[in-house]
Amino acid sequence: MGLDKVTDKPHERLAAFLAPELADVNALIRERMSSEHAPRIPEVTAHLIEAGGKRLRPMLTLASAKACGYDGPYHIHLAATVEFIHTATLLHDDVVDESGQRRGRPTANLLWDNKSSVLVGDYLFARAFQLMTDSENMRVLRILSNAAATIAEGEVLQLTAAQDLSTTEDVYLQVVRGKTAALFSAATQVGGVLAGESEEVIQGLFDYGDALGIAFQIVDDLLDYWGTEQTGKNIGDDFRERKLTLPLIKAVAKADADERAFWQRTIAKGDQRDGDLDHAITLLTAHDTLNETRDVALEWADRSKAALNAVPDGEIKTMLADIADYVVARLR
Ligand code: IPE
Ligand code: IPE
Ligand code: MG
Ligand code: MG
Repeated sequence: MGLDKVTDKPHERLAAFLAPELADVNALIRERMSSEHAPRIPEVTAHLIEAGGKRLRPMLTLASAKACGYDGPYHIHLAATVEFIHTATLLHDDVVDESGQRRGRPTANLLWDNKSSVLVGDYLFARAFQLMTDSENMRVLRILSNAAATIAEGEVLQLTAAQDLSTTEDVYLQVVRGKTAALFSAATQVGGVLAGESEEVIQGLFDYGDALGIAFQIVDDLLDYWGTEQTGKNIGDDFRERKLTLPLIKAVAKADADERAFWQRTIAKGDQRDGDLDHAITLLTAHDTLNETRDVALEWADRSKAALNAVPDGEIKTMLADIADYVVARLR
């Protein structure tokens, strides 16, 4: 692959900039994902971790620490922690969502079974907690353990909101902030904490990660209707799981009587037939809710860039702003 091609995508440019640290993070991940006693653990973790993934969250931790002038070793540990928490939630999430594809590969729950995914996910969570203690920084431990609790809370809130056609955009935002943005904001915030930055900068990093994570999840939800095989995941998972994501909430609000009956049958009752996903996409398109949802994602991306005002100027800050554009550019 030519270098030009690599450098035109912001997350690849950031990865190139952080290459030495990312190599250390990957080495630490490989070291800590192993297990002496249970061979199923490295089988499952290698399947998922070696498949790649964008490593967006660990890059955010590395970049945030470096943007604040940190020159110690522990941003590597915290970046690996963040990726472990992410990977653990993916293992659990694919069981809960009954998903069949992740990172362009069959999911672990499909290749092995739900039990392996749940237990290896638990193992990775525990490994994440071990890793974060290496920093010996109490505030960092508090931020990351709060994030882990908030993610689980977001997933449970989503579970109880699924199938409920009266779910509001506020509840959706709460779900997204919990299940996804909490890890983004923790990832960026700990970079500033580690560097001993001022409260203003730490808050700026938190706000950047929070808004970025929200934009990221809104786009992920759009791609579940709009995506191509490029995402490495199947489309239509959210419809099948009867999730009230933003495009759907907006379409339900605009539904006439016939359309309401369709949503009632497919989402509230879960009686889904061949052609229903296509019809759902037709309705979302007719009501323009895919474009409206994209506009909401763009607003959050702008908010994340605005939060960077509090962060020290420099090359890394520019790259973080570009990441906000990239997150929504995945739609183009
Ligand atoms: C997937 O996150 C989970 C969501 C929050 C939508 P990513 O799209 O960052 O997953 P990987 O790590 O690159 O596979
Ligand atoms: C991802 O939620 C958030 C967590 C893993 C906690 P989704 O279920 O929307 O993500 P994908 O689409 O499976 O990656
Ligand atoms: Mg899922
Ligand atoms: Mg899910």
